[in-house]
Amino acid sequence: MKITIEIDGKKIEVEKNTTIIAAADKAGIPIPRFCYHKKLSIAANCRMCLVDVEKFNNPKPACATLVADGMKVSTQSKMAIEAQQSVMEFLLINHPLDCPICDQGGECELQDTAVAFGSGKTRYKEEKRVVFNKNIGPLISTDMTRCIQCTRCVRFLQEVGGMMELGMVGRGEHSEITAYVDRSIQSELSGNIIDLCPVGALTSKPFRYKARTWELIRRPTLAHHDSLGSPLEAHIKQNKVIRMLPREDESINECWISDRDRFSYEGLNSEDRLQVPMIKEKGQWKESDWETALTIVSEKLKLLLNNEGPEELGILISPQSSCEEGILAKKISTSIKSFNIDHRIRQSDFSMQHQGAHWLGNHIASIGNFDQFFVIGSNLRNEQPLLTSRIRKAVNHGAKLFIVNPIDCDPLMTVTEKVIQTTHKLPQELAKILKSMTELKGVLKKDIKFIKADLEKIKSDKTSDAIAQHLMKNVLEGKKSNTSLLLGQLAEEHPDYSTIYKLAFEISKLSQASFGVLPSHLNSVGLEAANVLPEKGGLNARTMFEKKLKAYLLLNIEPQLDSSNAQLMKDAITFSNFTVALTSYQSKYLNDADVLLPISPFTESSGTIINMEGRVQSFTAVTQPLGQSRPAWKVLRVLANHLGLDGFDYESSLDVKNAHIKIKSQFISKELSNEINIKNDYKIRLSKPKQFTRVGEIHQYRIDSIVRRAPSLQVAIQKTKAIAKLHPIEMKGLRLKTNDKIKVIQGSQSISLIVIEDIGIPEGSIFIPSGIDETANLGDIWGDVTVKKMTSGSPS
Ligand code: SF4
Ligand code: FES
Repeated sequence: MKITIEIDGKKIEVEKNTTIIAAADKAGIPIPRFCYHKKLSIAANCRMCLVDVEKFNNPKPACATLVADGMKVSTQSKMAIEAQQSVMEFLLINHPLDCPICDQGGECELQDTAVAFGSGKTRYKEEKRVVFNKNIGPLISTDMTRCIQCTRCVRFLQEVGGMMELGMVGRGEHSEITAYVDRSIQSELSGNIIDLCPVGALTSKPFRYKARTWELIRRPTLAHHDSLGSPLEAHIKQNKVIRMLPREDESINECWISDRDRFSYEGLNSEDRLQVPMIKEKGQWKESDWETALTIVSEKLKLLLNNEGPEELGILISPQSSCEEGILAKKISTSIKSFNIDHRIRQSDFSMQHQGAHWLGNHIASIGNFDQFFVIGSNLRNEQPLLTSRIRKAVNHGAKLFIVNPIDCDPLMTVTEKVIQTTHKLPQELAKILKSMTELKGVLKKDIKFIKADLEKIKSDKTSDAIAQHLMKNVLEGKKSNTSLLLGQLAEEHPDYSTIYKLAFEISKLSQASFGVLPSHLNSVGLEAANVLPEKGGLNARTMFEKKLKAYLLLNIEPQLDSSNAQLMKDAITFSNFTVALTSYQSKYLNDADVLLPISPFTESSGTIINMEGRVQSFTAVTQPLGQSRPAWKVLRVLANHLGLDGFDYESSLDVKNAHIKIKSQFISKELSNEINIKNDYKIRLSKPKQFTRVGEIHQYRIDSIVRRAPSLQVAIQKTKAIAKLHPIEMKGLRLKTNDKIKVIQGSQSISLIVIEDIGIPEGSIFIPSGIDETANLGDIWGDVTVKKMTSGSPS
C-alpha cells in the first residue's frame, strides 16, 4: 500500500512499511548515517541519522522509524541539525583523526559526514582511548581505534556471510569490535566489510599504503572467477591494477563481491608473467619475438597436419576464456578439420549428449524466491560464494535446503536433510530418493520414465523418504512446486556425472522442480553456447589425453593443476611431438611445452562472457598489455593468418562478437538447455574402490592461474591447502592420528601428505585436494587411491 509523506517540504509516495531513511534515499534527500546499510538489519546504534519528525518533541532515528501517512519530516530544522552535530561531536571524541595516514582518506564516510554535518571546532581536550588492533588474517587490516562501533561488519558476517566471526565486547567507552582469539576471519565474502566500514578501521591489507585513493584511475571490468561475472571497478596506478571493488548490480552481485574476485588482482602482477614469446631449443627456453614464434608454430602445425593428419592435434581451452577466444579457437579447429577441441577440463564423464549450454535455469535475482533448494554435488561456499549468500538469505527466511554430497561441507545455513555418501554410491542415493518418490501415495509408476529397471532393486530409507516427501508435498497437494534443484561442480566432475544428471533430471520432473546447473567457471555457459566442443567424432578433453596425440594447443591452461587427471595430461604433453601454450605465465607446469606465447589476462584484453543465467556481458581492457603479451583473440587470429586460413580478418574482438554472437537482448535463450533426451538405457554403477575413492576438490583460491598467483589469498589457505582428510573410523583402521603422515599412491605416482580426522568425509573416501603443487602428480581427481601410514623411518 502506498502512502504519502513529506520530507523537507517534498511530497513523496512510498510503500507503507518503509523507513524514513529509505524514503529519503528514494527521493534523493541526504540523511547522514553510519550504522544503516540497505542490505543489513537495522541496528540504530550510531544515531547519526536523527531527523525532526512533526509532532515529536525529540529527534528520531530515520533508519529505525517507519513512515506514516501524512508524516512531515525535516532534515534541516534546528533540532535536526543540532542533533546531527552533537552526534558527530560524540563520534569524533575518540576518533584519532589520523586521516593523513589512513588508507580510507578520500573515500571515508566519517570524513565526508564530519565535513558536511559536523562542527568546525572541537571542545574535547581530554585523552582519547586506544583500542588494540586485531590480526584477522592476510586480507583485512585493522586500526580499531578508528572504529565507531556501527556494527556493520558484525552484521554482515552474520547475516550475509552466515557466521558470527566478529562481535562487540565490553560496554560504554570500553566496547570494542573483536574476533575470536587467535582466529582469522574465514568467510569467503570477508572483504565486503572493508567496503562497509564507514571509517578506516577495516582496510584492505594487500592494498595498504599502495596509493592515495585520488591517485587511482577507475575503470569498469568484470569478475572472472565464477560464473556470475560480477561487475567490478578496477583501480589502476601506473598501468597496474592495484585494487578491485564491486560495482553495484542488484540483479547479479547486489553490492557484494567474493574475496576471490576482490583480491585475485594480485595475481595479475605476478613475477612470472610471461612478457615475450619463448621457444624451447635443446631443452632450454629462449626468448623470441612474435614473428619467429608464430612462424615456428604454424610451420610445425602445418607439418603435423600434412604428415599425421588433423586428428593428431588436440585443442584445449580454459573455461575462463572469452567467447571470442573460444569462437576463434573453434574456427581454427574446424578450418583445419581437427575436431578435437574442448574446454571441460575437469570433467571425466562425457557420455551425455549435448543439447545446449547448461545453465542456472533461472535468473540469479530470482534464486532467492524459492521455498526449497535441493543441491546435488556442490560445496556451495567454495563454488558459488555469492549465489550461496542469496540461497542463505532465503533459508534464513524459512526456505528448506536438502543436500546430497560426497563430502559434508558446511554451507553456513540450516540444512533440513542431507545425505553424505562416498563417491561411487552417490547415484544410488539419488535413486533412493527417486524410489521414495515413487512410493508416495498418488505417484504413478508410469510417471517414472527412465530407470524403471534399476529402481526395482533400490531400497528407500528414512532420509530418502523425508526428502521425497518435502519435494513432492506441493505436487501431491495440487499446488505449484517452488523448488530449485541445483547440480554443482562436484557432480559435474563425478565419474558418473551423466547418471547423476539423469537421476536429478528425473527427480526434478517428478517433483516439478526447476532444474539448474551451477556452471563451475566464468564462461562455461558461453563456451558451450558457442559450441566450443568436439564435433564430428572429435575427442573430448579427457580422451584427447588418453589417446596421447602428436600435438596440443593449450589456451590459458596449467595442465597438472587444471585437469581431471594431472598424470594423464602431463604424460600426454611429455610424449607429444609439439605443444604450444598460449599463457599469461611462465608456469613450471608448461615446461614440457615447445613454444609459449604470452597472452594478456582479462584486464589487458577485451571480450564477452555469458554468465550462469545466460546474460551476455562484454568487458574491455583496463590497462595496457604487459611487455609483448597480446590478447589471446588477437594471437589466435594472427596464428590463423600464418596457417593460411580464410575468414580471419577481424580487426577487433568486437568484430568477432558481431560476426558470431547474435543477440537480440541482454540474454541468450535458445542456446541454453538443461533438457536431456534419455531412454531407459543406463545402469546405476555399483563399483567399489580398491581402498579409497579420492575426493579431489579444488579450493576456490586455486581455481585458475590468476587466483593461484594472488599471494594474500594463498596465505589465507596456506595452513590447510595440502591436507588429506579421513573419516575417524578409517583413521582408526589405519592406526592413524590427526597430523600423521600418510603415503598416497595413485597409479604410478605416490606422495606424502599430512592427514587429519574429519567426520565430514564418508567412509571409503579420502579428501585429497587438487589444483595444488603437492598433489599435481597424482591421477584422477575422483579415482581410486591407496593409503599407507608412514612411520618415522619411511622415505617421504
Ligand atoms: S570496524 Fe568499521 S564496520 Fe565494524 S563496527 Fe567498527 S566502524 Fe563499524
Ligand atoms: S544510521 Fe540511524 S542510527 Fe545509525
